[in-house]
Amino acid sequence: MTDRYCVFGNPIAHSRSPQIHALFARQTHQDLSYEAILAPLEDFAGSVEAFRLAGGRGANVTVPFKEQAFRLCREVSPRAAAAKAVNTLVFRQEGVFGDNTDGAGLVIDITRNLGFSLADKRLLLLGAGGASRGAIAPLLEHRPARLVVANRTPEKASALGAEFGSVAMDLGLPTGTLSASGFRELADQQFDLVINATSASLGDVAVNLPASVFTLGSLAYDMVYGRGMTPFLRMADEEGAGRLADGLGMLVEQAAEAFMIWRGIRPDTAPVLAALRHA
Ligand code: ATR
Repeated sequence: MTDRYCVFGNPIAHSRSPQIHALFARQTHQDLSYEAILAPLEDFAGSVEAFRLAGGRGANVTVPFKEQAFRLCREVSPRAAAAKAVNTLVFRQEGVFGDNTDGAGLVIDITRNLGFSLADKRLLLLGAGGASRGAIAPLLEHRPARLVVANRTPEKASALGAEFGSVAMDLGLPTGTLSASGFRELADQQFDLVINATSASLGDVAVNLPASVFTLGSLAYDMVYGRGMTPFLRMADEEGAGRLADGLGMLVEQAAEAFMIWRGIRPDTAPVLAALRHA
């Protein structure tokens, strides 16, 4: 029997996940189906339960349900616990297991697909919501020279900085490797990598950053995809950032990590990413 998987979101119509997982399944000869399900805003848990009862084996979860997904799990992975958000569900006999592959997807895209080594680099992570939260630990694991989490509302960045201080310490990173900031204090600082994990690009608005954060040769990475040159990427380009990237690679890599959790086999992402870019 064909194993069923899906992605829950709201909205979900434009999700590229069904196409990605169909390509993964074909490549790895796995007998599975993967559909997009629009979960009602007021009853995400009901949608999940209905899918599970209908024989679903697992699911991805996207905006705006990742925190709710975290809460409905019986058990979660350490990285999902750190992110307090879940993007991958596995329906097990003993209950729902949750994982979060977003941060791993981001880091794999940056290091493998874009060939950018994070070790000893100056990293700036913009935003202090769920997307940023999931990225901090995976970025720190690559031992950057520093990671500054900056947010429009600086208090939220400070809270994240405090929360993840122990992760930096456990990794044996020097004090001060992880710090928090508002946008204005960034004026005299430059970074090798600037990641936009805010939701600003979804509304096609710019992040109110000092333009000088970009240097010649720095990589500007916007987590959104399918929106072409976002105001963030345009600014980076105008300021001479050497490289620009959208989040399509992150999407494909987080999907590959989820596929691995479900099926025990990691697909080759390069041809899938190429097919999506071509489309
Ligand atoms: P997500 O789960 O996608 O991270 P979220 O938890 O709603 O979404 O967080 C949105 C993030 O984008 C926040 O860091 C928010 O900044 P504030 O904490 O100051 O609200 C940030 N954000 C949204 N619109 C923004 C904008 N126009 N400029 C800068 N930051 C923005």
